[in-house]
Amino acid sequence: MKFFLDTGISEEVATSKEWCNLSGVTTNPTLIANSGKNFKQAVLDICELLPEGEISAEVVATNYQDMLKEALEIASWSKNIVIKVPLTKDGLMLVRKLSSMGIKTNVTLVFSLTQAHLAAISGATYISIFLGRIDDISYDNGTALLADAVHMIKNYQLNSKILAASIRHPLHVVECIQIGVDACTLPFNVLSKLHQHPLTDIGLERFLADWNKANLTITL
Ligand code: E4P
Repeated sequence: MKFFLDTGISEEVATSKEWCNLSGVTTNPTLIANSGKNFKQAVLDICELLPEGEISAEVVATNYQDMLKEALEIASWSKNIVIKVPLTKDGLMLVRKLSSMGIKTNVTLVFSLTQAHLAAISGATYISIFLGRIDDISYDNGTALLADAVHMIKNYQLNSKILAASIRHPLHVVECIQIGVDACTLPFNVLSKLHQHPLTDIGLERFLADWNKANLTITL
């Protein structure tokens, strides 16, 4: 499964990429606002840190013509930008247009299987399903939706990748791996917990204590 970092903060990208093989970064208007930088600078700082990664940056206009203008402007900033588009009628028009131009898209704010299917047949590169926000309102089962979306892509042999978004804790990541989701975008605080296990800490402590008690060394 591909890991993306869900952030607008370049320092979090710089720290994470040292130990995790990140496939890219997803931003949204809220995350960019939290970065304290202007949109273009925040995105370019991240692109520079991950030149081979896919960096999602979202349009904020809501009508097709203005969305297209924004999308073409954002896409011109760097070759590794993926245009993030909300799942609306105008958004779907934009995805079809960008897809025909060879520009990658990440369709966002997806909460149902019909929405995911529309995004896929429009040519979306990624389809972001918001697991945590579905859980928040206890309206539906986000994990079941992810599994259905993965099945739908396979069943109809569509090219889109399902991206689990709005991840709140490591158990969401476990569920994504079990389902076989293509990619998962994680906030820094969740990514930072994935390698932790108390038995690893206890085991390492015991190995080192035994090694030192026996006065062993490695000659370098
Ligand atoms: C990412 O692409 C989404 O915008 C993000 O995961 C939403 O997360 P949230 O529900 O925690 O705001």
